[in-house]
Amino acid sequence: MPSRKNTTPLGPIRKFTITEEKATFRSRQGTLDVVFLKDDVVRLRAVKKGQNEPDRSFAVIPTGWDKPETRITVRGDSVILATSNLSVRISLKTGRIRILSADRTDLFRNAEIAWSGAGVGLIWKMPKDRHIYGTGERTGPLDKRGTRMAYWNTDRSGYPVEQDPLYQSIPFALCMDGPRAHGFFFDNTFRQDWEFSPLGKTKAKMTADDGALDLYVMASGTPSAVLERWTELTGRMSLPPLWALGYQQCKWSYYPESVVRDIADQFRQRSIPCDVIYLDIDYMDAYKDFTWHPERFPDPPKLVSDLRDQGFRTVVMLDPGVKVEEGYDVYETLKQAGFVVRNADGTPFIGPVWPGDCLFPDFTDAACREWWGKWYKGLLDLGVAGFWNDMNEPAVFDAPGHSLPLDAVFSGDGYPGDHRRFHNIYGMQMVRGTTEGLRALRPDQRHFVLTRAAYAGTQRYAAAWTGDNCSDWPSLRISIPMLLNFGLSGQAFCGPDIGGFAGTATPELFARWLQVGALYPFCRTHYAAAPQSGHPDINAVPTQEPWSYGDEWEEINRASLELRYKLLPYLYTVFEEITRTGMPVMRPLFLQYPDDPKTACIEDEFLIGSDLLCAPILDEGRYSRELYLPKGLWYDYWSGECLEGGRKITASAPIDVLPLFARAGSAIPTQDVVQHTGEAVNKPIVWQVWPDSGFKAIGTLYEDDGETLAYTRGDFKRTTLTLSGTKENPETSLQHEGGYTGRPQEIVIAA
Ligand code: GLC
Repeated sequence: MPSRKNTTPLGPIRKFTITEEKATFRSRQGTLDVVFLKDDVVRLRAVKKGQNEPDRSFAVIPTGWDKPETRITVRGDSVILATSNLSVRISLKTGRIRILSADRTDLFRNAEIAWSGAGVGLIWKMPKDRHIYGTGERTGPLDKRGTRMAYWNTDRSGYPVEQDPLYQSIPFALCMDGPRAHGFFFDNTFRQDWEFSPLGKTKAKMTADDGALDLYVMASGTPSAVLERWTELTGRMSLPPLWALGYQQCKWSYYPESVVRDIADQFRQRSIPCDVIYLDIDYMDAYKDFTWHPERFPDPPKLVSDLRDQGFRTVVMLDPGVKVEEGYDVYETLKQAGFVVRNADGTPFIGPVWPGDCLFPDFTDAACREWWGKWYKGLLDLGVAGFWNDMNEPAVFDAPGHSLPLDAVFSGDGYPGDHRRFHNIYGMQMVRGTTEGLRALRPDQRHFVLTRAAYAGTQRYAAAWTGDNCSDWPSLRISIPMLLNFGLSGQAFCGPDIGGFAGTATPELFARWLQVGALYPFCRTHYAAAPQSGHPDINAVPTQEPWSYGDEWEEINRASLELRYKLLPYLYTVFEEITRTGMPVMRPLFLQYPDDPKTACIEDEFLIGSDLLCAPILDEGRYSRELYLPKGLWYDYWSGECLEGGRKITASAPIDVLPLFARAGSAIPTQDVVQHTGEAVNKPIVWQVWPDSGFKAIGTLYEDDGETLAYTRGDFKRTTLTLSGTKENPETSLQHEGGYTGRPQEIVIAA
């Protein structure tokens, strides 16, 4: 939909009706419904005349919000619908829309809904200085002004740093007008295209190839309040098992079994902390899901249990494509049940992925999701702890668009449709099947599922990684804004392949990447070293383990991971916060300091929770850097030097140093280094207390058993530490909440 010229706008309103439920505006071209869901959330839904578009969402969940009081005013040729926080004005003459928040901020001005062929879009005027964040998994800058972007889940192995779109589609934007935030979500699973003019200009546009214009607008004031609403609307991640916060080591692929055992032994012999080892596709027999390669892995239960004894969890990969092979039980049961993606003529679609020709389960069918979920029983029974669902855009080799045909047919849980409609939610529905299956099989256990493809709301089912990045410095650099925007879009448990997937990391790149990676929410090294990934000689591929680069580098890499394990009590506490508030683990500075305009575009620094600021080195051969400290006092985490914020400083960063700062006034729960999370059980919590100028500090620690849902029944412990008094006479108090016993606690006043 290139410009207003070639489109048909909603146009003059010929009739409007207002009921308890909604206000409906009808024009010659279509119908617009306006529904206030809460005093600060409104939904606008427009369909073209004659269009039969089911009103259902894969992203939005029941919120329990109370319906707000709404005032309706007719003024001149406009109808104004308003709550205490938001107003929507529809011009009866033009059908154009204006949405204002209570402080008169124009959220959408001169907005026009228009259709072009099957496509639908919204064009509006955006203030010249508004910043836009979120928008899901994206390369490019943190602020999305001046960019075009698409939503169409795309497998692009070894993607360049300009690649758009990528694997996941989350059409949500967090907008900032100075310190004031609002959000919008265009809930439409067809391909979407968005375009925002650069700062200083006003054009804004989003279009979808088909379906309804289904727009949720959230106006709540602070960015954290908007994220709270957004994650109420589409759900939050549930608390992961503690081990999933540990370091994870992956390669395409570790095999045979002896190699896996050797990797595990090396971690322990070299005292490099690690919790998880991955088995990529080559553990399977001919890449058949839910099988094991008989020669490479002759005794999976023994291997998994031996790894467990060494403190490792095993995570294995499952792809959606089910190999066509007579007698293979997964294939046979799928074929018989018939819930597969079909060609337009009704025959099952068959296309190649790793195993050769495959059927594709139709995960938009509840029966299929249930069938898929049940297969995990075997893997759970033999002790596998986590599941990695890949290729779920879905990727199809040698196919136009590298995916299913656009006219392929899905059942859609009673609302059938084609691939254009279901492409962007295929991965989400796959991990939904996985997670719901795991929950049914082990109801009191927390589960870890990792996905590559997703739509808005997928955080309810899985963590995400950013796919097949490259082993180069630009890919390291973009990982920061990518993860920040991912977190702002609701997917807080995310990380890239540390060291890069495609290509070869230099020792320095790997070391710098692991330094910052130790603070990523999801902390996993992964790299490609398989014949199919383009390496002619698998034995000649340089390895990418923390010890791969010689003793000196190994020491640096060990120290990086030791920092993660020291900070785990704090990280876990921050993760627990997301499940209640939607605030991401890894935060852009503006999220904590919206009043400070200097934070608006900082994309090479970030906060973990509210108390630790990290300014990593992202360039080769650089041993110091400039960084911005927000207002207040900050402590250099390593030297304890107290620094005045609200200004730029230069931090020195020799190769073994990650510039890291603690907020004055915070108390950060830590622990001594352990080799895996299971070792921490009886070790004391060590509070690092960083007093502010008045010698005050406050901090929180969250603890529970780290594995089960007992915490939802009150079996957790939340401790609040408060510091007062003076340097000479410090006073600390610890207050506890919840029924869990928790670990012993020690207090260190760090400065
Ligand atoms: C895909 C995944 C990658 C994996 C490979 C083999 O490229 O993104 O992480 O290693 O497939 O399974």
